[in-house]
Order: sequence, then C-alpha cells, then structure tokens
Amino acid sequence: MGRRFFVGGNWKLNGSRASIQELLEAWGKADLDKSVEVVISPPAVYADFLRANMPAEFGLALQNVYKEGSGAFTGENSADMALDVGADWVILGHSERRSIFGESNELIGEKTAYCLGKGIKVIACVGEQLEEREAGNTQAVVETQLKAIAAKVSDWSKVVIAYEPVWAIGTGKTASPEQAQEVHASIRAWLSKEVSATVAAETRIIYGGSVKPSNCAELGKQEDIDGFLVGGASLKPDFTTIINAQK
Ligand code: G3P
Repeated sequence: MGRRFFVGGNWKLNGSRASIQELLEAWGKADLDKSVEVVISPPAVYADFLRANMPAEFGLALQNVYKEGSGAFTGENSADMALDVGADWVILGHSERRSIFGESNELIGEKTAYCLGKGIKVIACVGEQLEEREAGNTQAVVETQLKAIAAKVSDWSKVVIAYEPVWAIGTGKTASPEQAQEVHASIRAWLSKEVSATVAAETRIIYGGSVKPSNCAELGKQEDIDGFLVGGASLKPDFTTIINAQK
C-alpha cells in the first residue's frame, strides 16, 4: 500500500474570522492535488466554524487535547469534544506543548491512549533540540519520545508521526532534505525493529520546521518524507503551493 501524502496546517495560536475567510477563498480558488490528505488545525475556538466552511475533503485537527473526556480541567479540550465538532485528528506532543507547557513523554503517551481509544487519529510529534543534535543525541531523543507513544498504539493506521526538529520550528532554518531524510529513515527503521515491517512501510512520517512554498518540493521528494506539518506558512494563501508540492 502506498503512503498517501499528508499536509497538515498547524495554525498554533493564530487566526481570526477575517483571516480564515481569506484562506477559505484561496483554497476555494486553487486547483488542489486531490491525492493529498489535507488536515487543518486551527485554535480550538475556530474548529466548528472551520469545519462548517472549509472543503469537505479537508480533515480537521485540534492542536492538543487532555487525557480525559470531561471534568474539572479548566482551559482544556477533549478528544470527545473534538469528535463532536467533526475533527478527525489531534496533534499530540508538539514541541511547544513539551517545552512551554511542560508536557512529559508519559502524559503524551496517556493522551495518545485516550485519543486512539476514542477513535480520533493522532499526529504524534517528535524532535530534538539544537543542543541535543549538536551532542549527537538526535536519534536517542527521538526514539525515547517515540517509545512513549508507540507503547500506546495498537492500530498504526490511525497515527501519523511528525518529525519536527525544534531548532527548525519558526526559525526560518529548515532541516536540509538530507538531514530530514536521515531522521525519517531512522524512525522508519525503528518502527520496523520495534513494531513491524508492515507498520514501518505503511506509517506516514511527515516533516515540520519552516516548510514553505520554496522548499517543499525538494523536501517532499525524499523517500521517507510523506508530507509536512506546516506552521507559519499554513496561515498564508500560498499554503496551496505546499499542498501541491508533488504536483
Ligand atoms: O507544527 C508545525 C511546526 O511546529 C512548524 O512550524 O512555523 O516552522 O512551519 P513552522
């Protein structure tokens, strides 16, 4: 089975009704590559509005959810609520959740278990900090993060792995296609060894970190890069160029 190219737009804490309107117009006008799975992840307050107005074939993701369905957890959203507003995916383990909000591998594992148990698909993020790369620890860091997630996954068809080197996020400093490919290949090898050859062959591993219209084609050509998780550039009308990276 071929791996369907996946392009996610992670808006982070950005957007407004007016900016969403502009994007909806740009997407509506563009001739988009229908073979690509597009998933948009707005701030949760806009999820319902976006679901109602964006192309039906686009998927919807929340950027984070808690490990419980409901309760006294002020400020949180849940997988149950995501599903209720028509989301198909959640992003878990984003480096901003890890570094700014102190999320541990353990919590990310618990969230993964809860989401998959509820039937929502997971974009699971992993990636090393600059010091970790410079110390030669990229693989060890990524594997530790992966392990905590993989321990909770029984159906890998519901999971996409996003490799996002932290030093490339929002910095304009993209990993070179070779650097990204090297880590993607090592993630696939890890899946093959720790899970199964079939899961390794079928699971999509997408790249995130300063992906833009000018570098997406080169990155997308790499054998083990199955798409992108795009931050800043997904807020612009020419995000459509990234969706069409393989056209
Ligand atoms: O999740 C996407 C991400 O962290 C990359 O952000 O702005 O570098 O594309 P950006």
